[in-house]
Amino acid sequence: MGSLETPTTTETNGSATPAVTSNGGDHKPPVTANGAPLSSTDSRIVMAQESEATKKRRASMLPLEVGTRVMCRWRDGKYHPVKVIERRKMHFGGPNDYEYYVHYTEFNRRLDEWVKLEQLDLDSVETVVDEKVEDKVTSLKMTRHQKRKIDETHVEGHEELDAASLREHEEFTKVKNIATIELGRYEIETWYFSPFPPEYNDCLKLYFCEFCLNFMKRKEQLQRHMRKCDLKHPPGDEIYRSGTLSMFEVDGKKNKVYGQNLCYLAKLFLDHKTLYYDVDLFLFYVLCECDDRGCHMVGYFSKEKHSEESYNLACILTLPPYQRKGYGKFLIAFSYELSKKEGKVGTPERPLSDLGLLSYRGYWTRVLLDILKKHKGNISIKELSDMTAIKAEDILTTLQSLELIQYRKGQHVICADPKVLDRHLKAAGRGGLEVDVSKLIWTPYKEQG
Ligand code: ACO
Ligand code: ZN
Repeated sequence: MGSLETPTTTETNGSATPAVTSNGGDHKPPVTANGAPLSSTDSRIVMAQESEATKKRRASMLPLEVGTRVMCRWRDGKYHPVKVIERRKMHFGGPNDYEYYVHYTEFNRRLDEWVKLEQLDLDSVETVVDEKVEDKVTSLKMTRHQKRKIDETHVEGHEELDAASLREHEEFTKVKNIATIELGRYEIETWYFSPFPPEYNDCLKLYFCEFCLNFMKRKEQLQRHMRKCDLKHPPGDEIYRSGTLSMFEVDGKKNKVYGQNLCYLAKLFLDHKTLYYDVDLFLFYVLCECDDRGCHMVGYFSKEKHSEESYNLACILTLPPYQRKGYGKFLIAFSYELSKKEGKVGTPERPLSDLGLLSYRGYWTRVLLDILKKHKGNISIKELSDMTAIKAEDILTTLQSLELIQYRKGQHVICADPKVLDRHLKAAGRGGLEVDVSKLIWTPYKEQG
């Protein structure tokens, strides 16, 4: 099971999200060994004895080992199973006063977080520690130099890493380094590790200029920067404007620093993506909401200038404060509109994240069902692909998952009963923001000379 819950965002001038309250647990009235209820005096004595024994047992467990599995109180007030990923000593605590970085095993890694001991139910500790994790951690006494080397190798791409270094790298990226960022009017909790340069290792919060995406350690630095920064929108060409929405195309070769800053920022919300610092090879399509203060980045997707695998999108992100408003589907639709202009079919780079897969599935379903609903007579997957620029394999898996396809006499046949189509369309939810193709002014990359 995976959770689609995401960490929180607050407006910097607004009120914070209320803190989660704890529940008191499921306390049953005390009983004697044979199950009869205790009188109030008996009960006090047994409870006192129990609490001494419990205290001792708990103390003997502390500090918890990395790899321990235990139940942890989450922000919904309920207890969920977690695995301890890392631990750190509290500044002003005793020898056993640690904080624990935990992974909720039922949930996506973006919800991993530091928790206090009080959130853990020590009675639920599973005594068998995950040995693999233990081994890895003890073998990870790395020097700063070694770590930097890995970060640098990571820059070139994961294929450069041998299996051992990759494992070590995964170990180091398990804990989020930057906890929050400030971007425009939002303070945003991050989701994943991002390999910022080593000089940013010691800060939990980063301050981004929302226009050039330069990042700083202190608010005053950002304020000084904002007085000087003359950008009011992403660099590059505005290739789409409809109402208050704009899309900018940024060439990674012409705007290297911007491209790199965007990658550092995006990695905070993308898990299984390799960061390419070689941004020369990419175009970035940055979606903005515009007002009289400037064009504020809402999300983006990147695209290789030349893809041998017919990828029309490398990474896609809607910044958390803007999610679930249809921008993701807009960006996906936009990537296919570019493919149509190129006269190519396209597909997103794999792997897709949980949220990425949901968004793509939703987009493919809606686009294909809309066509099937209007179309009279037979239609082939190839024709659907030509009309939509969606790769044939993606059409096939979408229609198969909707059970709209059968394999007859060596051929895939689309079986589209109008009632079934209507049912699926209803289930597919909202269509998202439309791309108005008449507002797109763009020529494919290779044609620019
Ligand atoms: N919970 C449940 N369903 C969700 C959620 C969620 N938190 N987020 C998106 N969805 C599903 C819904 O079906 C939604 O449609 P609906 O709102 O009509 O029900 C659909 O996805 C898309 O919703 P949008 O509002 O159009 O998309 P959004 O602007 O939220 O962006 C995106 C989607 C880009 C995947 C966003 O979640 C994101 O940036 N996630 C982090 C980065 C990421 O995972 N990117 C994809 C990696 S794969 C790749 O890059 C090739
Ligand atoms: Zn700036």
